[in-house]
Amino acid sequence: MNVLITGGMGVNGAVLARLLVSKGLRPVLLDNRMDLSLIADIKNDVNLVEGDVLDPHGLEMVVADYKISHIAHLAALMPGPAESDPRLAMKIGVGGTVNILEVARARNIQRVVFTSSKAVYGEITGEQTHPDYVPVFEFQPQRPVDLYGVIKVCCESMGNYYRERYRVEFVSLRFSSIYGPGKQARHGVLSLYGQLIEDVMSGKEVVIPCGGDQLNDALYVGDVARAIFLALKAESPRQWTFNIGTGKGVTLRDFAQVLGNIYPSARIEIGPGLDFRKGEKQSYCIFNISKAREQLGYSPDYDLERGIKEYIETIRRLRSKALSLRHYHRRP
Ligand SMILES: NC(=O)c1ccc[n+]([C@@H]2O[C@H](COP(=O)([O-])OP(=O)(O)OC[C@H]3O[C@@H](n4cnc5c(N)ncnc54)[C@H](O)[C@@H]3O)[C@@H](O)[C@H]2O)c1
Repeated sequence: MNVLITGGMGVNGAVLARLLVSKGLRPVLLDNRMDLSLIADIKNDVNLVEGDVLDPHGLEMVVADYKISHIAHLAALMPGPAESDPRLAMKIGVGGTVNILEVARARNIQRVVFTSSKAVYGEITGEQTHPDYVPVFEFQPQRPVDLYGVIKVCCESMGNYYRERYRVEFVSLRFSSIYGPGKQARHGVLSLYGQLIEDVMSGKEVVIPCGGDQLNDALYVGDVARAIFLALKAESPRQWTFNIGTGKGVTLRDFAQVLGNIYPSARIEIGPGLDFRKGEKQSYCIFNISKAREQLGYSPDYDLERGIKEYIETIRRLRSKALSLRHYHRRP
């Protein structure tokens, strides 16, 4: 299996790359931003390509040169940058995905895994949120309420079109709320879980005024990587889109409790109530992951304690191996 990871130097791409390396593979990481900070520990075990998903010719060359058989397509703009620059977000999201699907069609790629999001469902309300939390399943209506979600829906539809029309093996994974090393630095407001962990690590007092009772399906990035790996190699799954989460709800207080056990001197204060993001799009929910269990063999490996411990350990390891761009020499 020769895997191309687009957006390979991002939060999820780095963890997927690390998993593939641990399986004895040497993935190709294509990114338009040569920031090695999240892959400092595996930089010699992967192929690094500075490239852009908007460049079809470049993609063709990478796929041919590295004899790529599978593509994990992660490159995208996050919700904030997408809202600030809709043209660029559409270009990278939709245009970049067409380029990936076209190269997959032309080169008989065995599987394209696309990283989608719960943003396709839009606002989560009614019985699927507090206090019932009826699980969210794949076949409920898609009503995206932000540009990021609109782009994910569009890319999924295109992937399905290529699947049906050209037999491109396209699978889309819709992730719940992800936490993982690097997310705080890169995604700011979207990474409250990461902020909580990293503030405690650096000895800061943490005060979150409200939201301590809000349940949400918080997924450690290690399970994101495993799900992508399983989807890359799954033989003939019966459906092409899967919810990937933990299937359970946790609160910020649960996070605080685990952190308090690891750092007994941590100072964390979390107020009661719901909605810790304070009035933004309501998307707290718990995913039904039964289809991924049945068809991909996916089940979450990380409970909160294991996820938080691995988060802390990864941040420490990456800091100790911190690289600066100046030390990087691009391979042809
Ligand atoms: N982080 C989450 O909570 C979450 C949740 C659901 C889905 N996802 C999806 O997972 C994927 C990866 O997310 P992430 O958290 O790793 O984001 P990230 O921002 O850390 O990584 C994305 C990477 O894509 C690269 N990129 C952007 N435009 C590019 C282009 N034109 N060509 C090549 N590379 C380009 C960026 O430089 C970045 O390294 C995205 O598709 C995202 O929508 C993320």
